[in-house]
Amino acid sequence: MCGIVGYIGQQQAAPILLDGLAKLEYRGYDSAGICVFSPDGFCVEKTKGRLSALSELIDDGKAITGTLGIGHTRWATHGAPSHENSHPHLSTNGKISVVHNGIIENYLLLKDYLLRHGKTFRSDTDTEVVANLIEYYYEMDGDLLCATRRAIEKLTGSYALGVLCIDCPDSLIGIKKNSPLIFGFGKGENFIASDVPAILKYTREVVYLNDGDMVVFNSDSAAFYNALGEQIEKKPEHIAWEMSAAEKSGYPHFMLKEIHEQPKALRDTISPRIRGGRVVLDDLDLSPDYLRGIRRIYIVACGSAYYVGCLGKYILEKTCRIPVEPILASEFRYAQPVLGDDTLVVIISQSGETADTLAALREANNLGARTLAIVNVVGSAISKAAHDVIYTWAGPEIAVATTKAYSTQLSVIYLLAMYIGDLLGTLPEAEYKSMLKALQELPDLLSSVLTTEYLDHIKHLAGELYQNHDVFFIGRNLDSATCLEGSLKLKEIAYVHSEAYAAGELKHGPISLIEQDTLVVAVAGVPELFEKTMSNVKEVKARGANVLGLTTEDLEGEIHKTVDRYLLVPKTHPLLQPSLNVVPLQIFSYYMALARGCDVDKPRNLAKSVTVE
Ligand code: F6R
Repeated sequence: MCGIVGYIGQQQAAPILLDGLAKLEYRGYDSAGICVFSPDGFCVEKTKGRLSALSELIDDGKAITGTLGIGHTRWATHGAPSHENSHPHLSTNGKISVVHNGIIENYLLLKDYLLRHGKTFRSDTDTEVVANLIEYYYEMDGDLLCATRRAIEKLTGSYALGVLCIDCPDSLIGIKKNSPLIFGFGKGENFIASDVPAILKYTREVVYLNDGDMVVFNSDSAAFYNALGEQIEKKPEHIAWEMSAAEKSGYPHFMLKEIHEQPKALRDTISPRIRGGRVVLDDLDLSPDYLRGIRRIYIVACGSAYYVGCLGKYILEKTCRIPVEPILASEFRYAQPVLGDDTLVVIISQSGETADTLAALREANNLGARTLAIVNVVGSAISKAAHDVIYTWAGPEIAVATTKAYSTQLSVIYLLAMYIGDLLGTLPEAEYKSMLKALQELPDLLSSVLTTEYLDHIKHLAGELYQNHDVFFIGRNLDSATCLEGSLKLKEIAYVHSEAYAAGELKHGPISLIEQDTLVVAVAGVPELFEKTMSNVKEVKARGANVLGLTTEDLEGEIHKTVDRYLLVPKTHPLLQPSLNVVPLQIFSYYMALARGCDVDKPRNLAKSVTVE
């Protein structure tokens, strides 16, 4: 949600800002703008719509001269997407220029105060308040650092900010709280950005700023301050992954590339954690005594990560015999959860920055629970705030709709389940060995699914089915959780209304929605429940439904008797089967979206990293 880039150095800033913003497009946005410190003062250019429109407006940046600047892609919160509401925002006298990611919750109060003190506003945004507040304090003593510090002390909410001042032609300020911001050390040039891909072309040495941190920098040096205003040392972290990880590399869309990257992502996540025939979680600092004392596990997350939690309930309860409750992060804080030192709270997040998830994590910490985060982005706020972290090694996920991060999150659930189940003695050795074998084989099995022939088959099915407006996903047990993900994928990228139900629930209400030719996707991957799911299929078929079935290869001879069309996946250990079942659903949504002419990687209204509550 919103992307920020800031640059100071010897090169022309505008093309670098545009390039950086392009790398942040995945975050979701509806307008874009830059402010460059040109020889004539601030040159601000912004526009509603895609970044390509801004690039065109300023001749790919060549129309603007200057080696210091800030850029922004805005995902509208306060005020519609428009030229006026686009960032950067200038203060009343035009001396301060600000880009902002986050939400200033008390902006109306501050705006009122500033209006009474002669400041004027051109936009509906909360960000303009920040620019004017800095100006207000700057006018008092002419110290930009001090003015910025005083201004942010007045803000409640979340912010990552880039700040320029017309009187400081060789410095830039970055500051953050509850929204991501990194600093990049270049040679004779320095950067701030919302995420690594924006600056990876120029530097691999980055600092992940903590909440309250401020960086004041020029082209050769940077001074870091903590929330108390004390100067602090920051050691850069080296980014090892290649730029190609954040590029399409010949694929038409990031989503398709990331679907294909799943075997590697799984291998990278699983392999280092299996040694000597056991699951080894070096990442964890949980003592065996603590684990033996756990009475309840909460899994807290949003969206697809929450659906991994729904699968996690079945998997962890079966292997560890501990009650597991998946709960949406946006609900967790207000549910007055019963937490204590015998409760483990597992937080799942790809970005590690999701505002609701972060807030839930902090609440769990405050209430005395042990928190364990499963996170993809190293150095993210969630990874820093949790007691323990297990990283998913999916690499950068750019498509808004998650695929490989989801798969790796699920693989960490397997690892965790086996690790705890083994320790508690609730997972018999033979079952442990069988799961371990299946887990090690999973990446190759997944590769075997991702053939051109298989994808073409699904594309063909999507070609036949893309005009359906209402789709119902049904499945039992683990499959009911996979259905939630399949349904979300279809909604978010193909804009098809779809719902997911536990198959046995249909007849308790939703079956009244089934009409002639309503598309029902029936996932039947739990062997002992296959017949029961087929009974539910017969119920919808009796009401005219058109059924696309999904099951394991060994049941082809059975499923074809009941459904209209079907998809098959290889059979694996029953608890690991969801890892394979979800893949054709991802591919199906992808081709449905293409057939419906949707922008697969950047679906409307959505942002990759949801940094507001
Ligand atoms: C759906 C999707 C979202 C995310 C959710 C949580 O494809 O990607 O539902 O799963 O916004 O995001 P993270 O995992 O970054 O906390």
